[in-house]
Amino acid sequence: MIVLTFVLLLVTFPCGARYTADWTSLDARPLPSWYGEAKVGIFIHWGVFSVPGFDSEWFWWHWQGQTPPDPKCVAYMDNNYPPGFSYPEFAPEFNAQFFKPEEWADIFNASGAKYVVLTAKHHEGFTNWESPNSWNWNSVDTGPHRDLVGDLGEAVRNRSLHFGLYNSLYEWFNPLYLKDKQNGFQTQEFVLHKLLPELYNMVVRYRPEVIWSDGDWEAPDTYWNSTQFLAWLYNDSPVKDTVVTNDRWGAGCACKHGGYYNCEDKYTPGQLPSHKWEKCTSVDKLSWGYRRNMKMSDLMDLPTIIEDLVHTVALGGNYLLNVGPTPDGMIPVVFEERLRGVGAWLEVNGEAVYSSEPWRVQMENSSVPVWYTSKGDSIYAILTRKPPKPTVQLLEPKTSANTKVTLLGNPVPLSWSPIKPNAGLTIVLPELCDTAGKAWTLKLDGVK
Ligand SMILES: *[C@@H]1O[C@H](CO)[C@@H](O)[C@H](O)[C@H]1NC(C)=O
Ligand SMILES: *[C@@H]1O[C@H](CO)[C@@H](O)[C@H](O)[C@H]1NC(C)=O
Ligand SMILES: *[C@@H]1O[C@H](CO)[C@@H](O)[C@H](O)[C@H]1NC(C)=O
Ligand SMILES: *[C@@H]1O[C@H](CO)[C@@H](O)[C@H](O)[C@H]1NC(C)=O
Repeated sequence: MIVLTFVLLLVTFPCGARYTADWTSLDARPLPSWYGEAKVGIFIHWGVFSVPGFDSEWFWWHWQGQTPPDPKCVAYMDNNYPPGFSYPEFAPEFNAQFFKPEEWADIFNASGAKYVVLTAKHHEGFTNWESPNSWNWNSVDTGPHRDLVGDLGEAVRNRSLHFGLYNSLYEWFNPLYLKDKQNGFQTQEFVLHKLLPELYNMVVRYRPEVIWSDGDWEAPDTYWNSTQFLAWLYNDSPVKDTVVTNDRWGAGCACKHGGYYNCEDKYTPGQLPSHKWEKCTSVDKLSWGYRRNMKMSDLMDLPTIIEDLVHTVALGGNYLLNVGPTPDGMIPVVFEERLRGVGAWLEVNGEAVYSSEPWRVQMENSSVPVWYTSKGDSIYAILTRKPPKPTVQLLEPKTSANTKVTLLGNPVPLSWSPIKPNAGLTIVLPELCDTAGKAWTLKLDGVK
């Protein structure tokens, strides 16, 4: 009897319920399901770097960090600012005077995204919230004098979108970090006195459901105390049941450890990866932060964005699309237009995207590229371009007597005929009148 009770206790309270601070344990945590269902997110790079709005969010490093400095950045400063002007002097001009978090959240919601990830702190070290560990280098002490993280988080959540935070582990010019680096990362002054207190505080205050870690690559995860932090995050934090993280937790971790994989920026696998992943990319192909000298030709157009999104989702990824707001708090209207365009497409075709799973075959080259997704018993064939003829041939689906084909957004079933018994079909398309060149989705039921 005593033995039986003991066995029952073991079954009811399995010993593996708490994660330990090692990758074997942490990597075994299942991703909370909301993330795989969400598919589409918005990434926002906003900070003091938005003020010079030149080069990219890496401006400070390119101007004064790397050797040799980028001559374009040096010339930009020489030509536009007084001698001796220092980077922190940009902060007062980060005024966010037109920042309306409700309006931003409306745009993000209209894009069809289900989560939003804001830079809480980029490599410059400036926090968009009142971090007690970032005295006078945060958005409440200086610049906007406002809790940007808190205000956006509230508006985003109020629209039932998930709210996540990007956080850079390293800070280019933090004296504590530079000292640890000089010591070959054998000391942890920066990690113990700056990074970790700030990170724990940020999680407790804002309860982010994504922690998008970055800036990890110069030092090993043991320097950052990454596994200890993640064990706390998954066991004891206020977001332990819903939070997802990426894979940038120390040199060598990308594509190998953590939650979902980002691998490198704009990662685009050639075939179906075995681990959940996310493609992050930016409407402005040259920068994540706002650039005052951005040109139309530097931007991804809407059909390109949609094709990229479809390709990503067909290969089991999530798509995190970035926009860089201005220092005065506006989403540049050209970005807003792109986001609303994505939303208009998802309004019709989202059935093939949200909560979908990769199909047995991910793509085939018909007269136009065709990407497949699946959900329940349906499969979706997404045509990323308008076919040259009013018919399209799909070789991969195996048809049956019950096969039914429709075009999302069009109520009338389409007529089709088998190519060979049980292998492939020819579908007669209705007039595809969308001249913007966006993608069309065929829904196939009763196929294998
Ligand atoms: C969010 O977007 C969805 C889908 O476009 C729409 O139905 C809904 O009304 C929007 N919600 C808010 C609060 O704007
Ligand atoms: C939340 O959204 C509602 C409308 O859906 C609005 O009336 C309210 O002001 C919003 N509140 C906050 C805190 O964003
Ligand atoms: C950091 O990790 C070390 C072991 O590597 C551990 O002794 C220490 O308690 C950790 N500190 C925090 C704040 O996680
Ligand atoms: C489709 O064509 C593209 C471009 O030619 C090629 O890279 C890709 O491998 C092809 N895919 C398949 C499944 O044949």
